[in-house]
Amino acid sequence: MDKLSRRNVLMAGGALAATGALSFAAPAQAWTWSAKGSVAGTGAGTDPRWVWDEQADPLVASLLDRGDVPRVNELLRTWTKNGQPLPAGLPADLRDFMEQARQLPSWVDRGKLATAYDFNEKRGLYLGVLYGLASGMMSTAIPKEARAVYYSKGGADMKDRISKTAKLGYDIGTRNAFDPDGEMIVTCVKTRLVHAAVRHLLPQSPGWEAVADEQIPISQAAMMVTWHSLPTTVMQKLVAWRVPIPAAESAAFLHSWQVGGHMLGIKDEYIPATWDAANSQAKQVLDPVLAPTPEGIALADILLGLGSVVDGGVLSKPILGSFTRFLLGDRIADWLRIPREPIWDPLLKTAWGPFIAFREGLLPFPGAPQAYWLFDEFLRKSMLLFLSEARPISIEIPQANRPS
Ligand code: HEM
Repeated sequence: MDKLSRRNVLMAGGALAATGALSFAAPAQAWTWSAKGSVAGTGAGTDPRWVWDEQADPLVASLLDRGDVPRVNELLRTWTKNGQPLPAGLPADLRDFMEQARQLPSWVDRGKLATAYDFNEKRGLYLGVLYGLASGMMSTAIPKEARAVYYSKGGADMKDRISKTAKLGYDIGTRNAFDPDGEMIVTCVKTRLVHAAVRHLLPQSPGWEAVADEQIPISQAAMMVTWHSLPTTVMQKLVAWRVPIPAAESAAFLHSWQVGGHMLGIKDEYIPATWDAANSQAKQVLDPVLAPTPEGIALADILLGLGSVVDGGVLSKPILGSFTRFLLGDRIADWLRIPREPIWDPLLKTAWGPFIAFREGLLPFPGAPQAYWLFDEFLRKSMLLFLSEARPISIEIPQANRPS
């Protein structure tokens, strides 16, 4: 599937540099976000660009060096439910770490998690599309993430990678996400191990080059950037679309992602306590870093091409591209080299608002607007594309980078 070569990527980079587009990359800013706005309510204030995962990182580096990873992956394939005992035979240091990493934080609120499920159930259709096309496509315009994904093992098979990432988006929305019979804790702990492996492996990749403010990938700051591309971006869109969301559901959705962030190894002092705190942190960490990279352009192209596999037409690349442009705006769409669509672009601009209003019962139209069924079909197909990919799938610790 992947017809990209490093040469293509480098050529795209040359073209970008020539147009000056790469100079959009913002200079690193000082960390001024106060931990008072975090779920911890307090913190040392350490710049999260220089904090990684001090428990998982040395452990996974050691597993890789000791050659234990194939055996560990095989054993962990059988560990799928939150409440399930860890498989016998894991190395003792890994077992100790996982026993501790699977514990929910003391501040978890079961009531809020139950409300979050109601929200996910009611809003699943929108969430599927937003996770896929707002968060997913935005990740290709986050330079550090795009480069990490492109040069890691998963970058060579984006369909497989999407299914694994979609699993997290699916798991967090299930009724029993964090309960013993759910899977979200398992998914998070495994992902935490994967990220630790990436921190060890990527610096050895011939393609991935350390930059001044990133010698090791996936810092706590990078984690928060990606976190904001998920719940913060999704909630901002739902609010902008005027989808009615009761305050308790909005807070509950945030809570489920706060717990998710904690379980992925993000420190409580960086996880925003409220949407206001989240929006202010996103302004500081996410907005200024968005920029095009050759790797991101290449990944965006692959992602938009995945739709045709599912439906062979309705969700073809132009529609997904147009929707991405609609969600992320012209600046990002142009960075990602998404072509303008003369029919879809204006249609989405004019008809999406009334469509949502009609769908939400806010606009008492005698008949559905013309675009209604088209849009509804689009939502359903997109959902299918991005969330039905979450079939039983095993998140495994990589042992190598993308073959160069
Ligand atoms: C792997 C989710 C942050 C780069 C994964 C996986 C999941 C995931 C579910 C496992 C899927 C797989 O193995 O392919 C998340 C979430 C994040 C986050 C929810 C933040 C809230 C980041 C950041 C980066 C990153 C900040 C880079 C800057 C990667 C890479 C892999 C990975 C390179 C491994 C791909 C491979 O080689 O297979 N992530 N991630 N992630 N993630 Fe993240």
